[in-house]
Amino acid sequence: MLSRGNWSGTVGFILASMGSAVGLGNVWRFPYITGQYGGAAFILLYIGCVLAVGIPIMLAEFLIGRKTQRNPVGAFRTLRPGSPWVVIGWLGVLSGFVILSYYAVVGGWVLHYVYLALTHSFAGKSPEQITALFVDMNTHSWLQIFWLGIFMLLSIVIVSRGVASGIEIGNRIMIPLLFVLLLGLLFYALQTDGAATGLEFLLRPQWHKLGPIAVLEALGQALFSLSLGMGTMLTYGSYLSRQTNLVRSACFVGIGDILVAILAGFVVFPLVFNFGLQPSTGPGLIFRTLPIAFAQLPAGYPVALAFFVLLSFAALTSAISLLEVVCAYFVDEQGWSRKKASWTLGIVIFVLGIPSALGEQFLDFMDGLATNYLLPIGALLIAVFTGWVLTREERKEEFGAGEISAFRFVCWSFLIRYVSPVAVILIFLHQLQLF
Ligand code: TRP
Repeated sequence: MLSRGNWSGTVGFILASMGSAVGLGNVWRFPYITGQYGGAAFILLYIGCVLAVGIPIMLAEFLIGRKTQRNPVGAFRTLRPGSPWVVIGWLGVLSGFVILSYYAVVGGWVLHYVYLALTHSFAGKSPEQITALFVDMNTHSWLQIFWLGIFMLLSIVIVSRGVASGIEIGNRIMIPLLFVLLLGLLFYALQTDGAATGLEFLLRPQWHKLGPIAVLEALGQALFSLSLGMGTMLTYGSYLSRQTNLVRSACFVGIGDILVAILAGFVVFPLVFNFGLQPSTGPGLIFRTLPIAFAQLPAGYPVALAFFVLLSFAALTSAISLLEVVCAYFVDEQGWSRKKASWTLGIVIFVLGIPSALGEQFLDFMDGLATNYLLPIGALLIAVFTGWVLTREERKEEFGAGEISAFRFVCWSFLIRYVSPVAVILIFLHQLQLF
């Protein structure tokens, strides 16, 4: 068999997994739902969800990947040959195509906004003119397809260079820079006039807003933000050696992801409230609301540039992990070379992304398909497979490699067998709006 590649060590692995987790979801969704569902109270709840549900499922993915050293399809085939559980792998590869096809369109928008920021396009513009920039981009299909192409090209080049010399190096450069930019922006945002209002929106604990719906929102966001349910973390785990401590790695990734989400809120809301703008969620916040602030801020130029560069790193490091899932399948199972897999599949995904670039309804449809159906079903099946199909010995043997504590194993087993499946079923029912 061709050599599949390996991380150079634990640090590279953690940075890459963090790169996958930290994405657009941390910047445009987390801060908003925090403000909406009770500020500091919601943050505590969210941390609880990451610890009780997110990290255990991430551990399950790491563990299956490392045990089998395979892509998602190969992994389930290796563990239970001839059984229907291989469907988890197929769903994962399918999700990779679906998610990356529209994620890359939004990634392309971010690159276009880096270009706009570079060319001073926000300075002095009225809110109407800023909105027009977004509408303009959306009506020029060729422009979106061009940036989609550039974004995919960057992802392909990184993935085609391999696990250690492509994906790992890309993340080793982009993730630390992302943190530096974030801290710089934070320092700036906390000195603006909106800082107090922004912090209050985000932090004032409003316990009365913490109902069952808030719990479900927090759970869904934890799964999405940690890139769980489609075998991304499984694939990244498959390039690990048995020396790595999985529990510690999963905790690092979970905590890093929470930190970026909270700090992003500390950057975004002071700017939003400084100009009395309405906080909103989704692409509107990033592409319509924030540039209005950048247009009027004293140091708008570097701030806008830093913000969109940060966002493009966040998007790119997540896109790489999505492309890697599909590539790993074709490399392991079809015997393709990494170069052939990354270029062919990257181009296929570029073509699949074109409908999302042409119409926002299609983009929303693909997003709904992935986040409401594919990812929760995948996460549920992964939890059930790990907790109930693998034997205790199989779980323990892999968990024990690089690990010592029996207590941690007992806690994790309980969470993955009982807490995670129930939590994911509830999220699923909630997202289908059944209650
Ligand atoms: N975690 C990413 C974010 O916060 C989004 C995401 C969800 C993702 N599932 C994924 C990224 C799978 C890569 C792979 O934006």
